[in-house]
Amino acid sequence: MKKIAVMTGGGDCPGLNAVIRSVVLSGSGYEIETVGIHNGWKGLIDSDLEVLTDASVSDILSRGGTILGTSRIDPLKNPADLEKIQKTLKETGIDSLVVIGGDGTLSAAYDIACKGIPLVGIPKTIDNDIFGTDLTVGFDTAVAIVTDAIDRLHTTAESHHRIMVVEVMGRKTGWISLMGGMAGGADIILIPEIHFTTEEVCRDLKARFMAGKKYSIVVVAEGIKHEDITDAVVPECDRDECGHEKFVGVGNLLGKELEHQLGIETRVTVLGHVQRGGIPTAFDRILGTRFGVAAVEQIVAGNTGCMMALQGSRIGTFPLKDVASRIKPVNPDLYYLVKTVMSKKW
Ligand code: F6P
Repeated sequence: MKKIAVMTGGGDCPGLNAVIRSVVLSGSGYEIETVGIHNGWKGLIDSDLEVLTDASVSDILSRGGTILGTSRIDPLKNPADLEKIQKTLKETGIDSLVVIGGDGTLSAAYDIACKGIPLVGIPKTIDNDIFGTDLTVGFDTAVAIVTDAIDRLHTTAESHHRIMVVEVMGRKTGWISLMGGMAGGADIILIPEIHFTTEEVCRDLKARFMAGKKYSIVVVAEGIKHEDITDAVVPECDRDECGHEKFVGVGNLLGKELEHQLGIETRVTVLGHVQRGGIPTAFDRILGTRFGVAAVEQIVAGNTGCMMALQGSRIGTFPLKDVASRIKPVNPDLYYLVKTVMSKKW
C-alpha cells in the first residue's frame, strides 16, 4: 500500500484545508494512506505526524487556515535536518510528499526533490506570485476581502471628502493591489512592478479634485520601494528571522505625504493579516480541490518533481526546477489596462 504525506509551509491562506481534504479523499480512493505533517518542514524534521483519514478531514472544506499548522523553516539550512527528514521517511514508510507552499516552500521542495525524495508541489499564497501557474490557492479570497474593504471605505471617504489610502499585502508583486483595486474601483493603484513618484500621485489626485471629485481611494502594495519615493516614504527596511524584509508601513508614510502635499484630509487603512484569515471563497475551495486530486494522480502515475498549475482553465503540471527562486510579476499590459479605466474617472 502506498503512503503519502501532505504538508503546508510558509504563510497560511484560505483554501489550504480544501487541498488537504482533497489529497486525503482522493488518496483513499486509490487505497493510499495519507499522513499529515505538522508545521511544515519542521514536522518532517521532528517526525511530528498524524494519520489522516476520511473522517479527520470531514467538515474542513470551508475552514480558513491549515489544520496541519505551518512554519517558515528552511529544511536545507542545517545539513543534519536533511538526514532527519530522510530518517522520518524511512521509518514511517512514506514514499512521496505533497508540498503545499509559496515561493520559499516550493524552492525548498525542489532542493529536497533533487535529493531523491519524490514529491509534487501545490501553489498557494494570497500574493499570487508563483511562477508557472495562472492562480494560486488563497489569492481569490484575499482579493474578495480587499474588494469588500474598498467598498466600505468608499462610503466613508465620500461622506468626509477624504483621501483613503489602503495598504494591502504583496511582498514582491502587486497582484492583490491591482486586482483588489480594480474590483473595488480604486482611483490610484500602486504596485512594486510599475514605477511612480509621489509627485505623479499628487498630480492625479489634484486632477480628480479639480474635476469635482470629492474623495479618492488609493491602494498601495506593502512591498513598494521605488527609489524616487524612497526618501519620502520608505525608510530602510530590516529583516525578520526568515530573511524577509520587515515592512515599515508604506501606507501610513504615503498617507502623511499626500496630506502634507495636497492639504486634503487623509486616512490610512492597513488591511494586514485580515487578508489571510477566514473562510475561503468558492473559487479557492474549487481550485484547492482540483489541485489536490491532480497531485495524487501525478503521484500514482509516478510523475513527481513537478508543481500542479492552473493553465487557463485546465490543471496541468509545471517543472519545480522552473518555479524555484522565481516570481511571477504583474503583466504591465494588465496594469495599463486598469489605468486606462482609472484615468477616465476625472
Ligand atoms: O507571503 C504572503 C504574505 O502574505 C506577504 O504578502 C506578507 O508580506 C507576508 O505573507 C506576511 O507574513 P507573516 O507576517 O505571516 O510572516
